[in-house]
Amino acid sequence: MMNNPWKKDFPQLTDGSVYFDTAATSLKPQSVIEAVNHYYHDLSANIHRGMYEAAVITTELYERTRETVAHFINANPEEVIYTRSTTAGLNMVSYIYGLEKLNEGDEIIVSELEHHSSFLPWQNVAKKTGALIRFIELNQEGRITVEAFKKVLNDKTKVVALTYVSNVMGYITPIKEIIELAHQYQAIVIVDAAQAIQHIKVDVKDLDCDFLAFSGHKMLGPTGIGILFGKYALLKELDPMEYGGDMNEDVNKDVSTWKEAPFKFEAGTMPIASVLGLEAAIRYIENIGIQNIHEHVTKVHRYALAQLNQISGITIYNKGSETGIISFNIDNVPSHDAITFFAEKKVALRAGQHCAKLICDWLGIYSCMRASIYIYNTYKDVDLLVETVKQAVEYFQELGF
Ligand code: ALA
Repeated sequence: MMNNPWKKDFPQLTDGSVYFDTAATSLKPQSVIEAVNHYYHDLSANIHRGMYEAAVITTELYERTRETVAHFINANPEEVIYTRSTTAGLNMVSYIYGLEKLNEGDEIIVSELEHHSSFLPWQNVAKKTGALIRFIELNQEGRITVEAFKKVLNDKTKVVALTYVSNVMGYITPIKEIIELAHQYQAIVIVDAAQAIQHIKVDVKDLDCDFLAFSGHKMLGPTGIGILFGKYALLKELDPMEYGGDMNEDVNKDVSTWKEAPFKFEAGTMPIASVLGLEAAIRYIENIGIQNIHEHVTKVHRYALAQLNQISGITIYNKGSETGIISFNIDNVPSHDAITFFAEKKVALRAGQHCAKLICDWLGIYSCMRASIYIYNTYKDVDLLVETVKQAVEYFQELGF
């Protein structure tokens, strides 16, 4: 293939290793590593507190990142809450909105494509409030469709919690149409964008979603930082989830008050280094262009599928994936056995249920392997993957699987 112009930016790949596990976590380009280092090496101060130079610069960078994130997803800065991860953001919505607003008989719509962090918080809300969970029936390919959504949407629907891109199937949910329909019933929509943000343009105003969460570490940024977007009108009315330092306005023995959103949702010292690293990741993605990333992933994905389709003895579950995710099994071989073969060949994949057991159940499998493609992957990487799949099929057949 073309000379990949981005691979050299990822120090971890200089040893020639092949990484197909971006859906679990992406690699980090040098600029992100430098932004994190810059904080620890040159600043190391807390935010919103000290008046010395390093503290002032750190606060400026932290708040500048909020503007960068806001611009990236077309939100207003006061709608951008820093969290630990997508999981933390989705859980926060379930606490500050779900447990507060839902009552017995209300309905929550989810799907079998949900990651556990998009499903379990609502299962908890349902258990505690008496609300009912309803599943959108997936189509034959395993996709969420607008037609199937309409069948479960009704006057009792209060919350719709859906993945934008499935971490197992790689399908893009028709979320904009779903949001429009949900709003006709005054339901709010929470979007899990953990697997979308690094692949497609996410525009919260265009989508008109009420909440949307994603993580830094799957989009070339550091671990420990996630973003929860919330419409300001909602954030303004909701109570904080955590109480402590920096989120309060005035503390008294009887009654205390909170800062405005988003600050009332950021209690305690936040992961400052990761916030600064996230800004570098966004700049890196913006420099390439999300459309160029999508085109590259699509090309490499097509190249991979064309070859994998020729191999007998494997089953691919999501040939229509739009985001470079290939979920497959070597027939009759448990994925955790198969994955060790790939590890020995230095091909990094993930095996298991991918924190999404419901879609494994729907597929009728216990677990699967998953190769996820991103900008640093090349045709040469795919050639090694395909060769390793062929060898693995032969190896396990010889062992009598
Ligand atoms: N949720 C991550 C994945 O899909 C960890 O692998």
